[in-house]
Amino acid sequence: MRVPMIAGNWKMNTTVNEATELVKTMRDELDKVSNVDKVVCPPFVSLAPVRELIKGSSIKLGAQNLYFAEKGAFTGEISPLMIADLCEFVIIGHSERRQYFNETGEVVNKKILAALNVGLKPILCIGERLEENEAGRTEEVVTEQLSSSLAGINDLNGLIIAYEPVWAIGTGRAATGVQANETISFIRRNISRLYNDKIAREMRILYGGSVTAANATEFMQQPEIDGALVGGASLKATEFLSIITQTSTIRGHFSHID
Ligand code: PGA
Repeated sequence: MRVPMIAGNWKMNTTVNEATELVKTMRDELDKVSNVDKVVCPPFVSLAPVRELIKGSSIKLGAQNLYFAEKGAFTGEISPLMIADLCEFVIIGHSERRQYFNETGEVVNKKILAALNVGLKPILCIGERLEENEAGRTEEVVTEQLSSSLAGINDLNGLIIAYEPVWAIGTGRAATGVQANETISFIRRNISRLYNDKIAREMRILYGGSVTAANATEFMQQPEIDGALVGGASLKATEFLSIITQTSTIRGHFSHID
């Protein structure tokens, strides 16, 4: 069984004070849900204080990015070693980074390698843009993103994929559960082709893009979808908690059938 995961990507939101307040509001309730991996990804400056607050709880920590060099003269960047000191997960290749910070497949590949080298579990984001979707190129785009991001990487060490169609991110226009399930199933077949069947079956693949408390059940009921990467709704304690409890209820049901 793949343990479902709900990860909150706070993006460039919350001061340190707001971040710690948000965690304090959610901590005890989140901690009660046991069969879901619950991850929060605050901005860099809040990683250390949030880590202190979730110590001893079942909530896990992720960063939103890293630079691939280990250390040195790279003013303003944060290295894999610094992240690994604080976090278990790191989001890599988010479409906002590809779009606004020119992250290419080659850069994403270097970041994935650097993260794996220090024992971090990358959450690799892939997904097609609106015009690519409308041109029927979704499978071609995710295939290319997978092979460039994972080039030369043999040991995936718990890597997670988040399928995030760019047109669904922050737009309130989520994919349907069926659409997301189909593409995720396609991604899993690709992983099987690039690696093997066992790795593909064990890999967690999340959906991301306008997931809310109102549509979470639709996604979690799909057999190929192992959770969600949640942006906007992860900044509201009650929404985030509701997404997680819905996931727990539905997945508990699934494992019962199995
Ligand atoms: P959203 O963002 O939930 O606000 O659409 C998702 C993401 O960018 O990971």
